Amino acid sequence: MKIGIIGAGHIGGNLTRRLTALGHDVSVANSRGPETLSALAGETGATAVPVSEVARGAEVIVVTIPLKNVPDLPAGVFDGAAEGFTVIETGNYYPQQRDGRIAGIEDEGLTESRWTERRLGRPVVKAFNGTYAQHILDKPRPAGAPDRIALPIAGDDEGAKKTVRSLLDELGFDVVDAGGLDESWRQQPGTPVYGLAAGTAEVTAALAAASPERPAEFRG
Ligand SMILES: NC(=O)c1ccc[n+]([C@@H]2O[C@H](COP(=O)([O-])OP(=O)(O)OC[C@H]3O[C@@H](n4cnc5c(N)ncnc54)[C@H](OP(=O)(O)O)[C@@H]3O)[C@@H](O)[C@H]2O)c1
Repeated sequence: MKIGIIGAGHIGGNLTRRLTALGHDVSVANSRGPETLSALAGETGATAVPVSEVARGAEVIVVTIPLKNVPDLPAGVFDGAAEGFTVIETGNYYPQQRDGRIAGIEDEGLTESRWTERRLGRPVVKAFNGTYAQHILDKPRPAGAPDRIALPIAGDDEGAKKTVRSLLDELGFDVVDAGGLDESWRQQPGTPVYGLAAGTAEVTAALAAASPERPAEFRG
């Protein structure tokens, strides 16, 4: 598959490593330009590109940058993507440590992914947001392995979720469908599933045990 990754930090870098290892054709971009990604490109065989080119021909685009930087992405960032492309977003809102106060989330009560989706202007599937970056490298297991972990995903577009489900399976993870994007508070920071590395039953139970109230440490 042709995959574009926006963000080449902890998550974007490790997704680039794993997806290229699986044989996907990966383009990756950061904010400083492709010349700053030569080490990652050399290591993985991914193509480092300016963010304006990362969507070209892509069937899947992963947006994995700090929430506060989402509004900085250029208009038309998805121009040239393949028809019916899927967007995965991995973001978390860290108002006190990183992102500052975001009114749409705090005052309007939008889920973090809904807020991001509105900025991006394209339906998104939330995935990887509660997964330690290192686990993307360390935790993959073949289907059926007793210690295979499950990752929750949320989104409104069933076709896009199917694409994400099969990509996560290929990456070595089970998947739990956590519902639509308005339910994605169940996997936001501070919830029981956030950071949990466990199988399907435990992840399903953790999602069910979540409270919609935003914990104080994740309020701005
Ligand atoms: N770290 C984790 O274990 C983890 C786990 C789950 C979810 N997350 C979430 O996933 C998101 C990414 O986290 P991370 O830890 O991978 O971040 P990170 O290591 O800080 O890397 C952020 C990346 O985003 C790029 N970026 C920032 N603004 C950009 C822009 N306007 N255009 C293009 N690229 C831009 C940065 O490029 P430059 O360096 O060139 O600025 C950098 O490559 C965050 O929302 C985070 O909360 C993180």
